[in-house]
Amino acid sequence: MRVPKRGGKNRKDHFIPDRFDGQVCLIVGGAQGIGKSIATRLAREGAHLVIADVDRPKLAETKAEISAAGGKVRTIPTDVRRAAQVERLVRQVLAWHRRIDVLMYVSGIGKPVPFVETSEAFWDQTMEVNLKGAFLVSRLVAKQMIKQRGGKIVFMASTNSWDGEGLMAPYNASKAGLFLLGKTMARELGPHGINVNCLGPGFIRTRLTAPIMKDRKFMKKYANLLPLGRLGWPEDIAGPATFLASRDADYVTGVLLFVDGGQLA
Ligand SMILES: NC(=O)c1ccc[n+]([C@@H]2O[C@H](COP(=O)([O-])OP(=O)(O)OC[C@H]3O[C@@H](n4cnc5c(N)ncnc54)[C@H](O)[C@@H]3O)[C@@H](O)[C@H]2O)c1
Repeated sequence: MRVPKRGGKNRKDHFIPDRFDGQVCLIVGGAQGIGKSIATRLAREGAHLVIADVDRPKLAETKAEISAAGGKVRTIPTDVRRAAQVERLVRQVLAWHRRIDVLMYVSGIGKPVPFVETSEAFWDQTMEVNLKGAFLVSRLVAKQMIKQRGGKIVFMASTNSWDGEGLMAPYNASKAGLFLLGKTMARELGPHGINVNCLGPGFIRTRLTAPIMKDRKFMKKYANLLPLGRLGWPEDIAGPATFLASRDADYVTGVLLFVDGGQLA
């Protein structure tokens, strides 16, 4: 696959070829943002990619971009809140490829709301996408990985799995839950050769954070407080996430790897 030129000075994307040659990688929530960056990296490293996402236009756009660069990618529109759609997704991936080597669960939603004004509907919606969706997808994928006697599962958690950022109660609770789900699965699935890890991004420039980024003064102050002095790009996550999915991480399981410019240092 063609290797694209590097972007701006903060968008380094260290390229190690072929770590995923021939591997079947399922990215849930890979139509844009962090998930797209991971998908792009996996495709460049030889993966047979399947991307699932609820956002059909972005899914089509991402598929076209990755295919145009020579990547092997298929897509399946999926709402992770719907168990029947999740079942169809995993069935379809197996019909195409017969196995799943890597699952990246990246789907997530969140927005700032004061705790006392948080509606039950918003609580449920956040939990369904960020936590229950991860449970529904990984339960089915883990069954397949047990049959294969191996696989790598990576959940996109957050610094908010640990840090109780104000105005983000359902998001924080869902991401803390995701971390403990991952740790529990790591214990149960380790004997089957399956690694389960979480990645915790700090502040990354994506659609999710776009509303907060409008406050330029606040963002400048925030970035200056970070030991590494800048906000993150989706490409800053792709390397560490694919490390956790690679053979280099064969002896890593049950961890939450923070990639946050030193925010939690
Ligand atoms: N951007 C950050 O600063 C940041 C920090 C920490 C963690 N994260 C986490 O990283 C992940 C990716 O976030 P992002 O910043 O790239 O945001 P994003 O909005 O660009 O991407 C999220 C993806 O999830 C998909 N999604 C939402 N609801 C879905 C559903 N019901 N079914 C299937 N897919 C669904 C969206 O369509 C989108 O493609 C999220 O889990 C987020 O919580 C992001």
